[in-house]
Amino acid sequence: MSQQATEQVYGHYIGGEWTEGSGDTFASENPATGETLATFRRGTAAEVDRALAAADEAFEEWRALSYIDRAEYLWDIYHELRERHQELGEIVTKECGKEISEGKADVTEAWHMVEWAAGNARHPHGDVVPSEVAGKDSYMRRKPRGIVGCITPWNFPVAIPFWHMAIALVEGNTVVWKPAEQTPWCGQIIAEMFEDAGIPDGVFNMVQGFGDAGAAITDDERVDTVLFTGSAEVGHEIADTVGGEPGKLAACEMGGKNGIVVTENADMDTAVHSAVMSSFKTTGQRCVSSERLIVHEDVYDEFKERFVDIAQDIAVGDPLEESTFMGPAIEADHVEKIRRHNELAREEGANVLVDRFELEDSEIPDDHEDGHWVGPFVYEIDYESDLRCLNEECFGPHVALLEYSGTIEDAVEIHNDTPYGLAGAIISEDYRQLNYFRDHADIGLAYANLPCIGAEVQLPFGGVKKSGNGYPSAREAIEAVTERTAWTMNNADEIEMAQGLSADITTSED
Ligand code: UN1
Repeated sequence: MSQQATEQVYGHYIGGEWTEGSGDTFASENPATGETLATFRRGTAAEVDRALAAADEAFEEWRALSYIDRAEYLWDIYHELRERHQELGEIVTKECGKEISEGKADVTEAWHMVEWAAGNARHPHGDVVPSEVAGKDSYMRRKPRGIVGCITPWNFPVAIPFWHMAIALVEGNTVVWKPAEQTPWCGQIIAEMFEDAGIPDGVFNMVQGFGDAGAAITDDERVDTVLFTGSAEVGHEIADTVGGEPGKLAACEMGGKNGIVVTENADMDTAVHSAVMSSFKTTGQRCVSSERLIVHEDVYDEFKERFVDIAQDIAVGDPLEESTFMGPAIEADHVEKIRRHNELAREEGANVLVDRFELEDSEIPDDHEDGHWVGPFVYEIDYESDLRCLNEECFGPHVALLEYSGTIEDAVEIHNDTPYGLAGAIISEDYRQLNYFRDHADIGLAYANLPCIGAEVQLPFGGVKKSGNGYPSAREAIEAVTERTAWTMNNADEIEMAQGLSADITTSED
């Protein structure tokens, strides 16, 4: 499948074969135009069952290969991702509405992840650990857990599947993957790449569909690890269900209500630039997007004026145009959710500074009237701990300005006062303030003098509190998809124990 929309109905990739599927059809839609891109089948419980059976059957042979042999399949995909960069970037943009530099960056992030995972196959795995006993050697071994179920979101439809699957596969697991229902076209292309790479039958399986297909994967007892990136509601449900099953593990990365602290010592250019990038890139639809800007009273007025000025004019438009900063929201229901969040802020006493929720007709590009358009909504509000608008994630271009007085301790207290803890940034020229934020902000990804988006794959990606219970990306995903064995071997003739434990056997004869 490539750039061209077709009449064909696309199915699933199970056990090395394309299957048409028996479920209802659903369409992939371009959120900028409303046009149908292609038609797919909803995965059924029976199809998930077959995919799991195929993954189960393929596991023993796959795990028996060397790391380096397994990685070879991934290197093929790495090259294909690079060669098709422009084409795939445009498909990402058409299917999920991110502007084109973001569409292409999604593909770049995917090949970075593949490079990391496949390159890691040649790196040392685990530690050699000294023993108290001279004759003993200990070292750490990893073995694959088995079948990894991957559930991925629409906002990074190429990168995040590879966060999950590249490492899971190189480590010797087999995979059953359900792409987001909003981005099945990207799912189809990734599955075709695995087929092109000649991955052995059943090692990689893809079932399209909705939450019911996802639940059929995550609830099945044959699945050893669930990797989930998506909403907090679904993630917590998965974590609760999986948590109750002995031996099964779920690594979930969920949303955020991310904040940027701008102190009295901030460089204002850096502050405004970082805040605009963090709040409006991807139309605010990253889990790491910022929805709270916590600004010191000494610089508040200047920051507010400059930030509002840009938010008034930021270029919303056709995501395929390089001059666009913000594309559309993903779907009509999501526009409605953003509207409810904006209204909630008003009800809770917001002083609205920018309201471009309903864009002017002139702002909507020609022939894009059916797109899911939405512009920035910026407000100031007196900070109070229990305001819902400051605690609930909107996942859109919905931003609160919060003025604080006092010290960095006061700012970080406000910053930490949400149920989430994914990403955040501090803007300051004072290294003591930076260090305080680094050490006390309750988040998994912390930035200084930068936007709080744009993490690179060689860092662990994940959050604390409601934002996550695991790190389904890069090196941390290794923990979720492998078991570690602490292997200790005796090289001496006699058994000698550590900790002074006697190895003498005494009997009633002694
Ligand atoms: C997400 O926010 O949903 O750090 C994923 C970033 C990207 C990944 C974002 N590398 O912004």
